[in-house]
Amino acid sequence: MKETQQIKSMFDKIVLRYDLLNRLLSFGQDILWRKKMAKEALKDGSQLILDLAVGTGDSAKELLNKRLKVIGVDISFEMLKIAKGKIQKNFFPLRASAYELPFREKVFDAVTCAFGIRNMHATEIALREIHRVIKDNGKIIILEFSLPKGFLKKPYLIYLKNIVPIIASFLSCRSAYEYLGSSIEEFFKPEEFSKLLQNCGFKNLRIYSLSLGAVYLYVGEKT
Ligand SMILES: C[S@@+](CC[C@H](N)C(=O)[O-])C[C@H]1O[C@@H](n2cnc3c(N)ncnc32)[C@H](O)[C@@H]1O
Repeated sequence: MKETQQIKSMFDKIVLRYDLLNRLLSFGQDILWRKKMAKEALKDGSQLILDLAVGTGDSAKELLNKRLKVIGVDISFEMLKIAKGKIQKNFFPLRASAYELPFREKVFDAVTCAFGIRNMHATEIALREIHRVIKDNGKIIILEFSLPKGFLKKPYLIYLKNIVPIIASFLSCRSAYEYLGSSIEEFFKPEEFSKLLQNCGFKNLRIYSLSLGAVYLYVGEKT
């Protein structure tokens, strides 16, 4: 897919300062968001987890404990290289696309995806692939940006669309962080995304609003 190729090139380009900008732009909160995602994923004694759109591995790092193996999938080889350097044990990086996961059906106890699904514009195809590879009653845990509701929405949009690109222009690639703002604005609203998860076969959904609605954590079970 041409669009997937463009997304891949963009992430290849920003890889070196990716972690730094995450910390800076989220005021360090990204670490807490990923910890919350990991806590949900580890709750039911998962042994094999797919961390989809693993990026530089910060999400996978939070998941790892002694008895668990994590497979990290991403389309960007540059991102995977950093992840591989960060995590030595029980972590298996693999270059593949969410649209065509190279796994049998019902393999994983859980699939996690932190800030990746927004970049998968064929969202339903990706969700159905995730559903296919999760064991029956296994879990999907998705962390994704959103826009705060009410009076906070406007100042947040100013931050996202005006201030973030300026910071990025000094430290990274401005256009990639312009894309960040527009992709957040265009992504499904939490209610819409929950419906889509249900349509793709996930039940018992739990949805948590984090950092005043700037981020949502979606937890569901495979029916
Ligand atoms: C914003 S980063 C998130 C990385 C990491 N999970 C984190 O928490 O920092 C999004 C990642 O999704 C990957 N990605 C985008 N589209 C993808 C696709 N179709 N299949 C697999 N990975 C994809 C990108 O290469 C990038 O590394």
